[in-house]
Amino acid sequence: MTPASEQGRFKQVKGTLERMALLITGGAGYIGSHMAYACLDCGLPTVVVDDLSNSLPDFLPKEAAFYRGDVADRALLERIFAAHSIDCIVHFAGSVLVPESVDNPLKYYKNNTGKTQGLLVTAIVAGIKRFIFSSTAAVYGAPGSSPIPETAEPAPLSPYGNSKLMSETMIRDAAAAHGLSFGILRYFNVAGADPKMRTGQSSPNATHLIKVASQAAHGQRNRLEIFGSDYPTPDGTCVRDYIHVSDLAAAHVLAVEHLAAGGGSFTANCGYGQGFSVKEVIAVVKKVTGKDFPVMETPRRVGDPPSLVAEAGRIRRLLGWVPQHNSLEQIVKHAFAWEGYLASLQKCTAAAS
Ligand code: UD1
Repeated sequence: MTPASEQGRFKQVKGTLERMALLITGGAGYIGSHMAYACLDCGLPTVVVDDLSNSLPDFLPKEAAFYRGDVADRALLERIFAAHSIDCIVHFAGSVLVPESVDNPLKYYKNNTGKTQGLLVTAIVAGIKRFIFSSTAAVYGAPGSSPIPETAEPAPLSPYGNSKLMSETMIRDAAAAHGLSFGILRYFNVAGADPKMRTGQSSPNATHLIKVASQAAHGQRNRLEIFGSDYPTPDGTCVRDYIHVSDLAAAHVLAVEHLAAGGGSFTANCGYGQGFSVKEVIAVVKKVTGKDFPVMETPRRVGDPPSLVAEAGRIRRLLGWVPQHNSLEQIVKHAFAWEGYLASLQKCTAAAS
């Protein structure tokens, strides 16, 4: 899949892109590994740094140069900058579980805010001029209106959202002071897997609704719990805007191109602008997979806003992004296929050992 090339923009700036390499932090993780494949599909040389704290190197493209370590390890980063001609950093590394951030906020301020500060310092000293940051819809909190434009006042409900918002602020201030250009991408709910099954969500402790529901459909879980059915939404369950991870990766490639071509810094929502409730997602999972599984309504989970749906026009206008997989059915189909593939890999590994 070469979504960026298909959209015609890659060719315009190919000369510029061919001379540079990208550093992808957290590139062995769920979204980072999709980005690594999207870059390689476009012929962009890619370097990955990942500490493998919540990911495996198994699903990284073999063509990517891989360094195991921490983004705040200044000596490691300096070694990478000396060995590769890095033009742009795409920073995914961080912690992403909203409930965990409520229980252990300092982990989130350390991993998401502190380490972003360290990475920025090293990058600026090394003369890196372009920085793309993985932010989140969680910065908005529970805004009164829907869909949510980028101009909405941020008011995070969780330490996770706060930790990302603080990083956004640092990036903007550092950009103004040090001539950095940046793209801040605020993700809504990322789901699905690479249609070619080269990578997918493989974190052992992932709690994403579509992953968990796909596991229930495979019979890998006894049941699915709905966290709260008394929200002020049409069916009482939380509403989210689910975006296919490959479309999200394509948006990042376009963001790299935009900055490489001298485009200005920006902040943009990444979503389709369409909301689905938890109950609607479960119904689609059952329909697409043809599998039934028990579902139980349980109390609300701390830190969950009732509804998060993107106003999604800016990224299309600015980057010419045209999603290729914007149907919940397709997202679920790929997520379900990935869980089956992962389970078969685990069986093979168990049989071989
Ligand atoms: C997700 C992202 C977060 C991002 C946010 C933006 C993950 C792990 N987190 O959070 O980084 O900032 O989107 O919108 O992807 N649910 C259940 N039962 C389950 C699992 C989930 O009812 O077993 C419900 C949750 O309460 C929530 C919805 O499904 O209402 C989505 O939950 P989840 O997939 O965990 O993502 P978010 O918490 O929305």
